[in-house]
Order: sequence, then C-alpha cells, then structure tokens
Amino acid sequence: MDYDVKDISLAEKGRLRMEWAEMAMPVLKLIRSRFEKEKPLKGIRLSACLHVTTETAALMRTLRAGGGELSLCASNPLSTQDDVAAYLVKELKIPVFAIKGEDSETYYGHIRETLAFRPNLTMDDGADLVSSLHFIALEKWEDLIPSLRSWAKGLSTTERKELINGLIGGTEETTTGVIRLRSMERNGVLRFPVIAVNDAETKHFFDNRYGTGQSTIDGILRATNRLMAGSSFVVSGYGWCGKGLAMRAKGMGANVIVTEVSPLRALEAVMDGYRVMTIAEAVEIGDIFCTVSGNVGVIRKEHFLKMKDGAIVANSGHFNVELDLGGLEEITASRKTIRDFVEEFQLRNGRRVYLLGEGRLINLASAEGHPSSVMDMSFANQALSAEYLVRHHRTLERRVYSVPEDIDQEIARMKLLSMGIEIDQLTKEQERYLTSWEQGT
Ligand code: ADE
Repeated sequence: MDYDVKDISLAEKGRLRMEWAEMAMPVLKLIRSRFEKEKPLKGIRLSACLHVTTETAALMRTLRAGGGELSLCASNPLSTQDDVAAYLVKELKIPVFAIKGEDSETYYGHIRETLAFRPNLTMDDGADLVSSLHFIALEKWEDLIPSLRSWAKGLSTTERKELINGLIGGTEETTTGVIRLRSMERNGVLRFPVIAVNDAETKHFFDNRYGTGQSTIDGILRATNRLMAGSSFVVSGYGWCGKGLAMRAKGMGANVIVTEVSPLRALEAVMDGYRVMTIAEAVEIGDIFCTVSGNVGVIRKEHFLKMKDGAIVANSGHFNVELDLGGLEEITASRKTIRDFVEEFQLRNGRRVYLLGEGRLINLASAEGHPSSVMDMSFANQALSAEYLVRHHRTLERRVYSVPEDIDQEIARMKLLSMGIEIDQLTKEQERYLTSWEQGT
C-alpha cells in the first residue's frame, strides 16, 4: 500500500487522541453501528480530501465500517495532524497522503495520489478534488499544478474518460467549496451530482458558528498567548463563521469590530452590538485581525501599511487568499519567525505586523480545528450523504444538491438523544392550526 505520512511511529498517539475525540461523537458512532450491519458503501471507492484530524479519523472508521474502500489526502498544507495520519495508515490500512507543512507541489502530488485511486465518490473540503477532476475532464491543463498536469496528461484519453465516468457523486464540506461548485453548475461544467454538506442546518448552524468561533480563538491564543480582554478585535466577514467568532471574542472581553460587504449582514452585526466600519477605518484601530469572509484580497497592501505597530493578522477562511500576502511582502524590509506560527514582518514604514500560521486557517494551523462535538454532526452529514449518493445517484442530475431534509432532521434528533434532551411533540390541535389558514384568533 502506498502512503506518505511524516512518521509512522506516531500511530499510537494518533489512536489515543482519536479515541478521545470519538467520545464526543455519539451520532457518528450510531451511524457506524448501522453501517457495520448494512454495509451501504460496499464496493465503493471513496477518495477524501479533508483536514486530517482526529475527527476525520472517526469519519474514516465509519466509512470503512460501511464497506467503503478509502483513500485520503489533506485539504490544506498546514492542517494535518501527523499522528492521526500515521494511525490511519498503520492501524486502518488506509492510504493517506498528508504531512503537516507540506509545500504546494507535495500538496497537489498528494491530491494526484488520491485521484489515482480512481474513486467512485469524492469527499471534499474546499473542492480541490472535484475541481482537479474537472480541469482534467475539460483538459484545462494550464489550471493544473505541474505534478498533477504531467500525471493527467500521461493518461490515455480512455483512462481519462474512465476516471471521470467512474464517479457517481461527491460531497462538499465547506462554504468556499460550495461556492466553487455552484459556479461549476452555473457554467454548465459540473460532471456529477454533488451534495453541499455545508448547507445542512445541522452543519453550518453549529460547525461554522460554534466550531469556527471557538477554534479560531483557540488558534490565535495558542499562537500568541495575548490577552483578549480590552483588545480591539476585527472580524472581516459576518457569515456563520464570522458571527461565531465575533460572539466568542466579545465573550472574552474584546471590543469587536466587524467589516462586511453585505448591507444586510452589516446591519445584523450592528444590531448584535458590534461596531461596523470599512476595513480602511478598522486597520487604524485593530490590535488583532481575523478574516472569515470566504473572499479574496480582504486585507491588502494599503491596509497593512496603516496598521498599528504590533498588529496581529490571521485568517480562518478556507484559503489564505483573504490576505494579500504578496502585497505584504512588497512593503516588508525583513521578516523572522518569532515563535511557532507567528512571523514578524518589519515593514519599511518602521512598523511591525505579525502574521499567524502563514495566513492559513488558524484554527487548524495552530490549534486542532473544530471540537469533536460539532464535527460529529458535520461528519454525520458526510457519512449519510455518501450513503444517499450510493442509493440514489441514478436519479440525480449533474447539480449541487442540498442534504435531504429528513437526514438533517434525523441528525438533530440523534444529537439531542445523545445529550439526553427530550423535546415536545406537536399536539393534534397544533398540527391543525399550523396547516390551516382559516383560524385567526
Ligand atoms: N474543519 C474544521 N475543523 C475540523 C476538524 N476538527 N476536523 C476536520 N475538519 C475540520
């Protein structure tokens, strides 16, 4: 079996940490018990491009229990937990291609290995697998990184066709990936159905809000050990992740400033009690900045130039493009790593800016990502969506689908059950009331 991990001897540590995570993942455990009996993924080859964490290991165990043959690579160069990667290879015999800190060539080389597995299903976090597959299908060679390009060009036309035609569907974990997929659908290039796991309510209400909220603060604090209380904390983007991050920063005593481009979200932030202003204004006030917008070039050269001496800048969006790092380099006289995950940029204007985790998602770069309890629901959606695609792919079109509502509801029910919480049922009278228009008073 081929694999590429940092150090296979870390496997035992990875197993113990995975066990700890699984204790907070009861919904996935229930699904695993059923999968063990029913084997809904039997005969399916599944390639996953996910953050290689303890929670992902629990998902891999579940998919394996369902009969799936698996291959896994990292969905970000800096998010891999090397002990978990070793555990998955050594004990679960899953070909894993992921090393924390890998360079871009290695990262895409790892994607290539996962595609060479010739999957029937893809499971993405950021759409790198699906987009690479489509660049190959459309022969958009210029968009492929060299190591992927030479491999794909080396395949015969028949082999390339087989690679694409072998796919029955895919799932997507995150907002950024869903945005890319919807663009593929709109442009008429999407070649197989994909389920947008991110859009399930049991995913983004919890994972994006509470998961990103808590783990981003965790990442920033582990990297810097700075005091939140009394600091001016700038959150760029007020989607579900931004709302969670702002809420948690406020809870720790920071003065939170929100920057937005959507008038509606900006208004929401105002009424949630935050100061809202343009990023150009915020850069002169902020002590700590964190982008969570899912967009490109949110903090640019002209903004870095206006920051206070000692400003700390991080990103918790999927890609590091939210920060204009090229622009930052242009105005920098010298740089040094001052502590793990903290790089000092001495600007030519005499001020210093501190970049965390190379601008990569800080919650996974310097911390451990979202806590297991929220990933329980996100990955329950992944497992059940994979099962759904296997059962229903023949009737699905080349579109981006939502997670079926009954799956979403069932996950919420299982999560409540695992917490020992009961809720009320509608009475007959209430059901009648909700379905009739005649009753007013
Ligand atoms: N994305 C954010 N947090 C994560 C985690 N703990 N595991 C996998 N993917 C994640």
